[in-house]
Amino acid sequence: MRSTEPWRSFAVDLACTRCERELALDTAHNLCECGAPLSVRYDLDAAGTLWTREALRLRRSDMWRYREVLPVQRAENCVSLGEGMTPLLELPRLSAQLGGRRLLLKEESLNPTNSFKARGMATAVSRALELGLKHLAVPSAGNAGSALAAYAARAGLRATVLVPRDTPAAFVEECRALAADVELVDGLIHDCGKRVAAGRETQGWFDLSTLKEPYRLEGKKTLGYELAEQLGWRLPDVIVYPTGGGTGLVGMWKAFEELEQLGWIAGRRPRMWSVQTQGCAPIVRAFHAGEERAAAWENAHTFALGLRVPVAVGDFLMLRALRESGGNAIAVSEEEIATAGRELASTEGIFASPEGAATWAALRRLESIEALGDASTIVLFNTGGWYKYAEGWRRVLEL
Ligand SMILES: Cc1ncc(COP(=O)(O)O)c(C=O)c1O
Ligand SMILES: [Zn+2]
Repeated sequence: MRSTEPWRSFAVDLACTRCERELALDTAHNLCECGAPLSVRYDLDAAGTLWTREALRLRRSDMWRYREVLPVQRAENCVSLGEGMTPLLELPRLSAQLGGRRLLLKEESLNPTNSFKARGMATAVSRALELGLKHLAVPSAGNAGSALAAYAARAGLRATVLVPRDTPAAFVEECRALAADVELVDGLIHDCGKRVAAGRETQGWFDLSTLKEPYRLEGKKTLGYELAEQLGWRLPDVIVYPTGGGTGLVGMWKAFEELEQLGWIAGRRPRMWSVQTQGCAPIVRAFHAGEERAAAWENAHTFALGLRVPVAVGDFLMLRALRESGGNAIAVSEEEIATAGRELASTEGIFASPEGAATWAALRRLESIEALGDASTIVLFNTGGWYKYAEGWRRVLEL
């Protein structure tokens, strides 16, 4: 149902996640001068008195129901394709493997262009429109590029997507159909990122790389708001999340902090478990080594393309969230993803993206089940659909 209430955002400014710098919302920014990501701050005291959980009942059924804690200032700048409010599905058959604990899956493949990347691109493109930017560029493993292409087309802005040369044709064709320019880069996503950085000067692109601009994180954060709302303003005990650049993980952690300040949730926050693959596990390695930053992973390879991220500018934010939450970090093999993907599909009817299947792969291990301890509710994330990974799945499942 569409609300007739006025649009209102309680966003106040941007603050650096490392140094003390504060920046205004009225111009476009990438990283802070110190090299760290910027983060949007809200007047949560005011929001907590003027906005209520009950008001959500009459709101539209997408992520903009939380517009008070999103950065878009004016309704006419909201670029939307209906993203968010995805189902939180019970997994009763797989629950049986967890000693009767309740297992749920947030089904993000139902978003526009089939992935959770829609959330971040909806806010980033809306703000780009609001700030008068014209040409947006993103390095991508596939899904972020598709999402940018869709939202840029809807906003009437230009988009350029840079992907590794071995990216499945379905992503490339989708981006081109959505009127984006696509460049195939020899190398991995960080090589695409270098090309975007160069294009800022030479082509006038605005860089929308993960955490190198502050607004994608805000859209991703709505994952945390939705989880809380869908569970009746209680949070699960454990969240198992496939981690590449880390916006989902860091975004949900931010959401939980904001929800506490709003007075909408209380009690223990979920333990955050990061899942990567054995072919590219910089965060898992740094977590277990007690490092604050993650060294670059050499020769990254995995068919879970969204997890093929050898370096991440937000590494320290992910590691901080994992540690503050009393979390965990697990690297799974390609074979484990295949087994888990088959099991999710054949027992629960959910054929996931490899990244989504990786979350079940990490949880179904004996040592993970032991590590759950007294946890009674666990949430997995299927961050995308399987279709565009058809070739990779065919190979590992021998279909
Ligand atoms: C399907 C899928 N899952 C997970 C990820 C990793 O997401 P994040 O960058 O939020 O860690 C990606 C990133 O490309 C992805 O496409
Ligand atoms: Zn700074």
